[in-house]
Amino acid sequence: MMRMVDIIEKKRDNFTLSRKEINYFIEGYVNSSIPDYQVSALLMAIYYNGMTDEEATHLTEAILKSGDTIDLSGIDGKKVDKHSTGGVGDKTTLVLGPLVASCGAKVAKLSGRGLGHTGGTLDKLESIEGFNINLASEQFVKQVNDINIAVAGQTAKLAPADKMLYALRDVTGTVPSIPLIASSIMSKKLASGADVIVLDVKIGEGAFMKTIEDARKLSKLMVKIGTNFDRKVVAFITDMSEPLGFAVGNKLEVLEAIRTLQGNGPDDLQNLCIEIGSYLVHNSGITETIKEARKMIQKKITSLEASDKFKELIEAQGGKVPDLNDYIHTNGIIAVKSEQAGYVKSLNALDIGLSAMRLGAGRETKDDTIDMDVGIVLNKKVGDKVEADEVLAYVYNNKADITEEIKTILGAFTITENVVEKKPLILEIIE
Ligand code: URA
Repeated sequence: MMRMVDIIEKKRDNFTLSRKEINYFIEGYVNSSIPDYQVSALLMAIYYNGMTDEEATHLTEAILKSGDTIDLSGIDGKKVDKHSTGGVGDKTTLVLGPLVASCGAKVAKLSGRGLGHTGGTLDKLESIEGFNINLASEQFVKQVNDINIAVAGQTAKLAPADKMLYALRDVTGTVPSIPLIASSIMSKKLASGADVIVLDVKIGEGAFMKTIEDARKLSKLMVKIGTNFDRKVVAFITDMSEPLGFAVGNKLEVLEAIRTLQGNGPDDLQNLCIEIGSYLVHNSGITETIKEARKMIQKKITSLEASDKFKELIEAQGGKVPDLNDYIHTNGIIAVKSEQAGYVKSLNALDIGLSAMRLGAGRETKDDTIDMDVGIVLNKKVGDKVEADEVLAYVYNNKADITEEIKTILGAFTITENVVEKKPLILEIIE
């Protein structure tokens, strides 16, 4: 008979767990026959001793099997998906989905909500009047077959073991473990049914991975797990030391996404979406080379087919297409101005994300409600020249007193006298 204590001791002493042992502990945890304290001890042993690629693959499989998997076999063609480890101002899904759908890729996207300093795609989409994210599965499949794209909310039945493990890791200091992160992310991606996946692994302040070495290890492991399950996985390692694009806040990010789809977006966001999009389009077999995919994407932006696809998605899910010139309504827009001249040396994404959250753009706890109109629009980013008294950021505000937030936003910028070089956003691509 298998016993949890033996499994804990085995991992404590740095031996390799078998597929049976891993299944035993996940099944036992989900059906409550194994208590939190034993799982906590095992998680800490995994944190210290790691896992082999094979163990991580078995863990992914066990988490995946703990719940439903989405059946997308009714969709013709390869399904693509993209996952980001969470960023401030990260509206890539809003841009990428319509962009690759307009190239013919099938986007059957399940998204989540935001918590804390990072926003969620579902909240951003729900800031569009009438947009419905609760699609029945037949409707979801039909919409992808009809217009190549649908975005719906994740159900609680997807990888329930991951929800339980994540909550436990959160309070036992075992979140930043590469095999635990990899199996957590990959189990959900595999459960959502995509054939072609691009992962965006962020590094920097406020991201899970602090160094390029760790990001590389995590990326390689996720690509390996994906391959073991016959999926085509590519990982981008990207820098998240500053927010992506200019806008942070729900409606503000929807506007920025539409402008990016029309070719008028911020350079960093535009380039990232074109690069990730090229891999999705190429890896789903639409083009022979990445270069051709990049060309096709650029054409869809210029011809406005990409932004028309976003409108099609909005209408298909019951939403009203935003009027770009009359969309955001707040009591005030406050300019945050620089106290000195120079160059922006750094711009703390975490501070900006937390500030936007406190303004009402995000949730501090699960039950908070969001003010869809508020947020922050950056006017300067790392490497930009700034004059004294020049605007660093605009705050779209509905609160009575935001003196503290203005201080936080000002403090998020570090200005120096010396010229600062702009850093590349995409650091590495791991295939
Ligand atoms: N994102 C996840 O989904 N899981 C982790 O463990 C870390 C980041």
